[in-house]
This record gives sequence, structure tokens and C-alpha cells, in this order.
Amino acid sequence: MSKNSPIGIFDSGLGGLTVAKQIVKLLPREDIIYLGDTARVPYGPRSPEIIKRFSEENTQFLISKKVKCIVIACNTSSAVASDYLKRKFRKTPIFEVINPAAKEATGMGNKIGVIGTRATIASHAYEKDINKYSKSAKVISLACPLFVPFIEEGEIKSDGLKEVAREYLTKLKIKKIDTLVMGCTHYPIIGKLIAREVDNHVRIVDPGKSVAKEVFDFLSKNKMLNEQKTSGKKNFFVTDLTERFTKVAEMFLGQKIKGKILEVNL
Ligand code: DGL
Repeated sequence: MSKNSPIGIFDSGLGGLTVAKQIVKLLPREDIIYLGDTARVPYGPRSPEIIKRFSEENTQFLISKKVKCIVIACNTSSAVASDYLKRKFRKTPIFEVINPAAKEATGMGNKIGVIGTRATIASHAYEKDINKYSKSAKVISLACPLFVPFIEEGEIKSDGLKEVAREYLTKLKIKKIDTLVMGCTHYPIIGKLIAREVDNHVRIVDPGKSVAKEVFDFLSKNKMLNEQKTSGKKNFFVTDLTERFTKVAEMFLGQKIKGKILEVNL
């Protein structure tokens, strides 16, 4: 691999495209290979052993594509499998979303709310990393398992979602948090609703933005930035391709990708 090799990004499904979007924004010249494990999404309700196995297979696929580094866009994989993957694949720099988001959150406030899938919240990965950067920060974590299915169904403006959001987020509102980490790939899609329900004054951390900055810093420091003059090529792979996935993918990425997604067997 060389500096002109692509950046590999994987997620349990298509939500990670919100992270890919931030990476493309900050690093427009980079080639990107995105893998969404749509055949096995969601990871959020699964056990750590299974999440590790799936994440390992995703990593192996990206390494076979000769990527120069890998970004684990999925908060659930980051929380449960990133240490395991970093130990197992030492030759490839691996980035995950929890650490950079935790670092950013501690620079913003001291009473930090974290929302995510069941597996992310149960792992306590965000608390651990937040308390690495700030001993005094108080962390209030909350699993919001119903957000992902609503968003995957494209129900982002429905009354049902609004009710669920109110039900979940009132618990954080009454704790008077000053900062909120949107600890799941899907949540930036409903970022405005989340901010409204928690309180618009709360500072929001989007882990996709945090990891994009980390990757940018790493590539520039190590002289690994792609030097091509045109915008980078983007290749999308999924483990199950349906018409609906394409529509959802376009919603997450914010651009048309019909006909550009390939199906793979891991
Ligand atoms: N990508 C997952 C995350 O960020 C959400 C979807 C899932 O449960 O797999 O945690």
C-alpha cells in the first residue's frame, strides 16, 4: 500500500455513510472503499463475540482491497471490537469513533450525555474514554435502541419517532447535561430532533466529525495524504443489496449512488 491507496471504512450497515460523508468533506482527494454489512445489520442488539467476529471479517475484506488505513465507522464495533482488531491487524492503522469523540466531548463540557445502541452503552466504552481525558466529567449514558429501526425505515419525521425521542431524551434533559455525544452512526440524521428534545443549548458531538479530523491529522503528519489532483474515487460494497438499501444509502450520504454499490460475500 502507498499514500495513494484508499481509506477503508466499514459499518454494520449504511449508517456509517454519515461518517464517510465527514471523511470525504475533510479529505476530498482520498479514494474511499466503504463496506456496509447490510446482510447482518443491526449489530447493536448482538453479543460482543458476534460483533467481534463480524468486525474481523469486515476488516479482512478491506485489507484484501489494500487500504492504507481503516476507519471503524460503527460505534458498536468501535466500542466492542476495536482493541481486538488493533491487536490482530497490527500492520494497518485502525481508527475508531469512540476515542476521538470522547476527547472532543471533554473539551466541550463536564456533564456529558452519551446515547447509542444497547451494545455500545453496555460496553461503557464512552465512559472509560471520557474519564481518561477528564477525571471530573460526569457521564450519563442511555441506550436508544428504537432510533435505528425508525431511521432505517426512513421514518425520520414521523410522530412515532418524535414520541420515542421525547420518551428517551427527557431522561437526559432532567439531568441537565451540557454536552451530548451522538454515539451511533444513525443519529446525525435526526440530529435536530435530538437537540430539540434534549435542549437546544446542549453542545452536540458527532463522532463522525471527530474521527474525520483524527484521520486527517494522522495522514498529514505521516505524509500519507493522497496527492491526486482530482476528487477521490468512491467504491461502495454491501453484503446484501436491495433497492431499499440504495435509497437509505443516499439519505445517509446525501448524494445519489444508484448503480455504484456492489454486493460481496465475506
Ligand atoms: N452502526 C451502528 C452504530 O453506530 C448502528 C446500527 C447497528 O445497530 O448496527 O452503533
